[in-house]
Amino acid sequence: MSGSSITGWGSALPEKVVTNADFEARLDTSDAWIVERTGIRERRIGGTTSSLAIEAGAAAITRAGLSPSDIDLLVLSTTTPDKAVPATSATVHAQLGCSGAAFDLNAACAGYVYALVTADAMLTARIGFDRALVIGSDTLSSITDFEDRSTAVLFADGAGAVVLEHRQDSEPLVLASDLGLDGSLLPILYCEHGGYLKMEGREVFRRAVRVTVDSAAKVIAQAGIAADEIALFVPHQANQRIIDAMIQRLGIPRERAVIVLDRTGNTSSASIPLALVEAADAGRLSEGDLVLFSGFGAGMTWASAVVRWHQ
Ligand code: ACO
Repeated sequence: MSGSSITGWGSALPEKVVTNADFEARLDTSDAWIVERTGIRERRIGGTTSSLAIEAGAAAITRAGLSPSDIDLLVLSTTTPDKAVPATSATVHAQLGCSGAAFDLNAACAGYVYALVTADAMLTARIGFDRALVIGSDTLSSITDFEDRSTAVLFADGAGAVVLEHRQDSEPLVLASDLGLDGSLLPILYCEHGGYLKMEGREVFRRAVRVTVDSAAKVIAQAGIAADEIALFVPHQANQRIIDAMIQRLGIPRERAVIVLDRTGNTSSASIPLALVEAADAGRLSEGDLVLFSGFGAGMTWASAVVRWHQ
């Protein structure tokens, strides 16, 4: 038996806090509407995708007790790369001083689960990689129209990262995974080059609940466990009402869900690792715990995984 373990984690948020009151002053909206319809109270805006990724990645490497040169695989999930060419992971790789391979992965807000599953598969395939840094970093503020109240209040910036280390004697990390996409739903959420995010919010909401509940239920069944065996549920942080609907339909006790969106808004690829890092730092994870990840995003993509937490 061989597998990988999460041995380090870290996150980064810009310093600038933008509250609902700040939007109230500029747009036809209110704190009450934003809190009631989304659960978001404030968010962080600023930085670049690479600068946030570097900060989160460095923290994760330090937490793992490693040096950047110990990392031989860097997977960066992002929808908002710094440049068209090269990949943002090249900047992160160079500035951190990592070894080996690096690439960007774009599966929108489901990207972090895609990245985690991909990195774990590459480590366990024994094709030359031993330690992976898996980062989710996005600066959605760079593609958000701050004059459009229907999207401005939702999106924000941040990064989160974990270190995965392969071990010959370790149990598998990923017990079950489900990665998918329905391209017929592309028109409900997209952003042209140089433009802003366009979203049919109500339709995204409806579809998101359906695809994530189906996907999460699938991995719970594949893992051969019951929903109440999930110790921690780490959902994509887009809307509190989407998370509430998922918890209710999946039968996961509410207190097991990690929520950071009230303080971070929707940070796309960063949302799941930001939530995971906060839970890990708060001591909410014990050896052997089962963790359920589930996300959705533009495409429409979705991704879920059941992971066993062992360090
Ligand atoms: N303040 C006040 N009123 C607003 C605001 C705002 N910020 N935004 C929209 N409204 C208005 C609308 O104009 C509409 O008014 P109308 O009835 O006069 O036309 C009314 O509120 C209701 O609009 P809905 O869109 O039906 O509101 P809903 O309850 O669906 O909430 C929201 C909108 C928050 C966007 C919700 O649909 C949602 O969260 N959808 C999912 C979005 C999502 O998850 N996106 C991310 C996907 S992937 C990624 O992360 C990039």
